[in-house]
Amino acid sequence: MKLFNVPFPVLIISVLVASALTSAIDYHDLPKTAVFPGPWDDYIKAPANKSFITPAGVWKTEGNVTTLTRDHRPSAAGVPNSSSSISIGDGGLVTVEFRENIAGRVCLEVASAVGDPTVKLAYSESSFFVGKRSDATNDHEWDLPLPLHVGNRTGPVCVPPKFIRGGFKYLTLYIDDESPVPQEQSARSRFGSMLYSLTNTAQKVLGLGDSFSDITTDGKPSSPRLASSVVITQIWVNCTSFPSQPNGRAYSGYFYSSSPLLNRIWYAGAYTLQLSTIDPTEGSALVPVNRFLDHNRSPPGSWYSNFTVARGTAVTTDGAKRDRLVWPGDMYIAIPGIAVSSYDMLAVRNALDVVYEHQYPDGSLPYAGPPLYVYNSGYRNEFSDTYHLHTLLGTYDYVLYSGDVDWLRARWTAYKRALKVSTSKVDSYNLMHVSSHFDWNRQGMKGHNVEASAILYTVLKRSTSLASWLSSDDDEEENVREWASLRHRLEHGIAQLYCPATGLYSDNLSSRHCAGPSHVDPQDGNSWALISGLARAPRDVSARLRARWTAFGAPAPEFPNVMSPFSSAFELQAHCAASARDAAVELALLMWGYMLDGPGFTNSTLAEGFRTDGHVHYPAYPVPSRNSHAHGWAAGPTGVLSVKAVLGIEVRRPGGAEWRVRPGGMARLGWVRGGYAVVRGEFEVLVLRVRGEEGGKGVVAMVRGPEGTRGWFGWGDEDEEEEGGFATQMEGGEWRAWVRWEEDGVTEELVSVGAEGWEVRNDERWFEREIAYKDGKVLVFDDEFEEPPMETREPGTVDWEMLERGYVDELGRGMW
Ligand SMILES: *[C@@H]1O[C@H](CO)[C@@H](O)[C@H](O)[C@H]1NC(C)=O
Ligand SMILES: *[C@@H]1O[C@H](CO)[C@@H](O)[C@H](O)[C@H]1NC(C)=O
Ligand SMILES: *[C@@H]1O[C@H](CO)[C@@H](O)[C@H](O)[C@H]1NC(C)=O
Ligand SMILES: *[C@@H]1O[C@H](CO)[C@@H](O)[C@H](O)[C@H]1NC(C)=O
Ligand SMILES: *[C@@H]1O[C@H](CO)[C@@H](O)[C@H](O)[C@H]1NC(C)=O
Ligand SMILES: *[C@@H]1O[C@H](CO)[C@@H](O)[C@H](O)[C@H]1NC(C)=O
Ligand SMILES: *[C@@H]1O[C@H](CO)[C@@H](O)[C@H](O)[C@H]1NC(C)=O
Ligand SMILES: *[C@@H]1O[C@H](CO)[C@@H](O)[C@H](O)[C@H]1NC(C)=O
Repeated sequence: MKLFNVPFPVLIISVLVASALTSAIDYHDLPKTAVFPGPWDDYIKAPANKSFITPAGVWKTEGNVTTLTRDHRPSAAGVPNSSSSISIGDGGLVTVEFRENIAGRVCLEVASAVGDPTVKLAYSESSFFVGKRSDATNDHEWDLPLPLHVGNRTGPVCVPPKFIRGGFKYLTLYIDDESPVPQEQSARSRFGSMLYSLTNTAQKVLGLGDSFSDITTDGKPSSPRLASSVVITQIWVNCTSFPSQPNGRAYSGYFYSSSPLLNRIWYAGAYTLQLSTIDPTEGSALVPVNRFLDHNRSPPGSWYSNFTVARGTAVTTDGAKRDRLVWPGDMYIAIPGIAVSSYDMLAVRNALDVVYEHQYPDGSLPYAGPPLYVYNSGYRNEFSDTYHLHTLLGTYDYVLYSGDVDWLRARWTAYKRALKVSTSKVDSYNLMHVSSHFDWNRQGMKGHNVEASAILYTVLKRSTSLASWLSSDDDEEENVREWASLRHRLEHGIAQLYCPATGLYSDNLSSRHCAGPSHVDPQDGNSWALISGLARAPRDVSARLRARWTAFGAPAPEFPNVMSPFSSAFELQAHCAASARDAAVELALLMWGYMLDGPGFTNSTLAEGFRTDGHVHYPAYPVPSRNSHAHGWAAGPTGVLSVKAVLGIEVRRPGGAEWRVRPGGMARLGWVRGGYAVVRGEFEVLVLRVRGEEGGKGVVAMVRGPEGTRGWFGWGDEDEEEEGGFATQMEGGEWRAWVRWEEDGVTEELVSVGAEGWEVRNDERWFEREIAYKDGKVLVFDDEFEEPPMETREPGTVDWEMLERGYVDELGRGMW
């Protein structure tokens, strides 16, 4: 081979150059293998073969079910495999459990079918709702089971393509008994009458009524029932989520620490974001709302995913099971998480595009993407002041991580028109006067609201950066001046909401104020006061938020009875902004740890919300099974741990051209490492506790950024830096390392790291190494560190009367 004639050193150099180039990610063509392979890949929840996901075991069987070996002898109940099969007869039911929460089309390998069988399928994310019906995706109590008419077919039998089920961990297969299905209550929904009247159709379809007959694979229901049965030799799910990733385990980033729970949380977030990223033609679980555009006549409880929610080949949505549509609120949480794990920036851009494409004539942006913007042609109803701002926040994050300034240029006029809608609502109280009560379903949004005003303050700061990235010179100067003066006014406005009695900010100026009859200090608003940098005594506000935590995490008093990973993800960022990063890590472990190991959760993806007493019922909806167990806004820790709380790798200019690295949040960690890759290349950070030979203790951080870029390294929290804390400039493309001594806080650079021969080990014990210090001395890993125990906290309680009042309908309309 010609190659071997090349002189040896040249060959080596060319290999190195090639690998340096491939480390930059092209988000039009995501990597096929992990950018940072290592033992941490064991934490990845995404399946190795997403077109063939098989159950992990049998959850339960009922009635006429037999497990047979190949030679037709009965065997122990188990999932069908190469040596055993399942036979389901009339009245038989089997529920299989998958290892993770998953999504896709169910297929059965049928060995034989007798009596023209129809196998019904019911899907559930939580073990609590396993049964003959599927989880609710709308107001209706349950989604209908899916009748799969097997007939006389053998071989692979799959449900039709539109019956992609977006999220389930449990699949129940059964053949109805000849006796009629019990007529369970069908009209539990309080809101059914708003869009359709509940009639007997709802029951009829359970018996394959005509109006839902298109859900059978090949048409006709069987009329006279004969004894029927089916022998299944394989069950699998063919998943179409995360369409941009040829290999769902080929992550662009990683996170690996001495806390297995924290690692599981990071990877559960990454996987949650993958399951929420879908083929845009397979969207919208809001069948009753789709009707305004697709004129479907499907009865209550119908479900399928055939609605186009965006253009392109992939789009990030709110959740896997529902609503499967573009909701800007999720973006502020989801985009950084996506940026550090899959880097599916096209899915993000497609989501933003569809919102901008439906901008209303007055400049306001829709509450959500299609089909929601069309409902009730008086479009004012489909507007939320905060979600409007979330689209603008999402715009910034997309441009920051993708480097796609050309896209920003094309959207800039629309962006500024949208911003004007919000800035024109800042009135003589120097607060934003919110006109829409829509937010994340929390209550009391109208009026002079702290959350909306603080989000606007952040948007104004970010708008100034966006303008500078466009470098369109002086045409923006006037805008930038106006934005600065508005920020100044908002600072005064928000100060009026401070409540000295609680040390927190009140929700609004009248009824929900400190002195008002329904005083509330909201979690979202106080978190945003910190994130925006508006709070007067940040560490104090952070400490007071922390003091409200219960055994299950941080409550959201603005939405009684709710534990919200959305609002709590704001709180994670808030503690980081308040230089309390250890509190952010502690909250991630407390609340997101509960969302993995708590009863009824999937232990693989992260849920939309839950109840203050720890139950998986998310009190926004009357129907507990409606909770989405894989919801973009629940993925907060993934972005926060990488960007702020622990690794502290912050991109500062589009695409990673400029950055800063500030590791921290180590109070509960002995070591941590991680990184992510963007268009400009890779970032990586390794942090470990060390001991010197004289016994002194410290923390070492080793850092690298992308070649051809520049950044800053520092330990400092935000405020320390302002006080002249340690920060030093560095170039990308090489490793540098520092040690900070615990006793005196002194930082020294370790020149040996980055020297020739220095190499990062990618194994489980990577931290067990000697690091050359000075005068021939070395630093070693401090293996004496022990993670401090978590504080004991009381469980939260439920106000049942308030619970009833908090419910919303499928359009996200609050009932208050
Ligand atoms: C999965 O579905 C795709 C079409 O969406 C098909 O091409 C492929 O063969 C299926 N794979 C399996 C294992 O069912
Ligand atoms: C996934 O499994 C299917 C069915 O066994 C197989 O045909 C396909 O090649 C597999 N794909 C990958 C990427 O392993
Ligand atoms: C197949 O399933 C049966 C029943 O659960 C089990 O006993 C057997 O070990 C399985 N065989 C294989 C090859 O997995
Ligand atoms: C159970 O199913 C088998 C076929 O698998 C069928 O022959 C038998 O009649 C069924 N028994 C009852 C009680 O339904
Ligand atoms: C299978 O059923 C179809 C009708 O559903 C029928 O046309 C066909 O003849 C049947 N095939 C066999 C082999 O029974
Ligand atoms: C989706 O399927 C329903 C039910 O079959 C149908 O009425 C509707 O027109 C379809 N919608 C789209 C957008 O294809
Ligand atoms: C405070 O909030 C309540 C509930 O949303 C609202 O009715 C009221 O108008 C608000 N007041 C002010 C001044 O913002
Ligand atoms: C959740 O999964 C992890 C492995 O990822 C396991 O260690 C843990 O015990 C599981 N938790 C529960 C409650 O099953």
